[in-house]
Formats: sequence, C-alpha cells, structure tokens
Amino acid sequence: MTAPPRARQITPPAIKARKGGEPIVCLTSYTASMTRLVDPHVDLILVGDSLAMTIYGMDSTVGVTLDMMIAHGRAVAKSARHACVVVDLPFGSYEESPARAFRSAARVLAETGCGAVKLEGGAEMAETIRFLTHRGVPVMAHIGLTPQSVNALGGYGVRGRGADEAASILADALAVADAGAFSVVIEKTAEPLSREISARIGIPTIGIGASVACDGQILVIDDVVGLFTEFRPKFVKRYAETAQAIEAAVAEYAADVLARRFPGPEHVFSAEAPIKKT
Ligand code: KIV
Repeated sequence: MTAPPRARQITPPAIKARKGGEPIVCLTSYTASMTRLVDPHVDLILVGDSLAMTIYGMDSTVGVTLDMMIAHGRAVAKSARHACVVVDLPFGSYEESPARAFRSAARVLAETGCGAVKLEGGAEMAETIRFLTHRGVPVMAHIGLTPQSVNALGGYGVRGRGADEAASILADALAVADAGAFSVVIEKTAEPLSREISARIGIPTIGIGASVACDGQILVIDDVVGLFTEFRPKFVKRYAETAQAIEAAVAEYAADVLARRFPGPEHVFSAEAPIKKT
C-alpha cells in the first residue's frame, strides 16, 4: 500500500503553485544514501532514467525497464522526507496508448510511493497526459531534447535554434500545460525559446541546459558532484570532485591492506575467554 505524503513533504500541486515564484531546486537521485544527502536541500527529486548511464553504464536511456525504475524509485521515495519524488516512465512503457501509460504509471505510484511520474514528449503525448491526470496520476512533462528519442532525433544536439523547430517546441509546451502536467522539464533548448515558453505557460518550467529564465533548474546528481567523469555537458556546473576523493580513498585502503596496516587493533573484536584446545 502507498503511504500518504509525509507531513511537510512537497506535493505536485505545491510545485505547480510555485510558478513565477522562488526558483524550484531539483536534482536527480537513484539510491537511498544519495537521497538522504540531497533531500533537505531540494524541492523535487527526480529518479531519472539517466540511471542508465550513471548506475548501469549503458550508452543511452533506451534500454531502461519499468522494473529498474520501480526498484530505484522505491529506494528514493522511502528515503525522502521533504522533497517531492518523481519517477521517470522508461522508453516503451507509455507511448503505445493512454491505457498502457496508466498501467505503467499506476505500478510506479503504487510500488514506489513516489508523488508523480515524468514522461517525455510534447503535443503527441497530450492525450496521454490528460488521461493520466484525470485519473489521479500527477505528470511532469519533458520537452526540447528528449533523450529516449535519441534514435529518431539522430543525436543529443541543442533543440529549438531554428524558427520551425522553435515553433514546434513552443506548441509542445502549450499542449502539455493544457493537458494538465503540473510542471515541464525543458532540456538542452535555445535560451530565447526557453524564455518564451516560461513566459507563455502557466506551469513551472524546469530547465536543464535551458537558461535561468526557467522557473526551476535540474541537473543529474552525478554531474553536480563529479561522480560521472566520462563526459561533461556544457550546461553542467560541477560543484565537487567526488570521483577523485573516492579514488584516493580506495588507493589508500588497498595500500593499507597490502601493508597489513588495516585492520588495526581498534577494528577487531576481543574474546571473552581463551579458545579451548581440542
Ligand atoms: O533522466 C533524467 O535524469 C532526466 C533529467 C536529465 C531531466 O530526465
């Protein structure tokens, strides 16, 4: 059974009410231990399908399954006390029909205890967003660069630079807002378009590579703390170099084990009596 939101835990309607107000602080998290560190500082935690790369070493988000999202969603939702927890619907779990999307979203809400789901797509997903929101599923939309469509888009390039593409993404934003999404992520989208969308729609825009004009910001936690080091997108600001600290700690541990400096006397257990000779 799904527990009700904890006292003072931020809800999707509370996020929606922040439109045009104080910036909404969002980060991804995928595990219980990271969630406990992130939760006091943010308004919204996204269990993103970016876990494909950060946790599972995949090349894209296309191979993520609903079971993977539910396992991580449950760990995060159980550990968050303050932030609104949103779980990504993975590729293939919702696009086919509104009914299919509802079945997937219902599993995510019931089996994780999270507050909402996120799905990618604009005007073409409006019917599905309306279907879900009318049936008790809060939906965060995701437009601009939609990584689950990497094969169709042909890569991870910036969106909305040309007039036609910008008009189409603006239409996406208007459609998902009208369909009842409580907020919308705008990813890797030209600044003038993100600004225009943020001014035109009545729900909060959450930017990732979409400028300070958005109502809030989101980044992948592994990028923020320097855990994911293979690639650093232009829109990422790294606030710590955790990978280096972990590597140094592991190297020191290995050296201690090899030199028999670890475990020391303070790490072992004494006996209550001498061992009986057999
Ligand atoms: O999967 C994810 O982490 C995301 C964010 C990048 C918005 O969708």
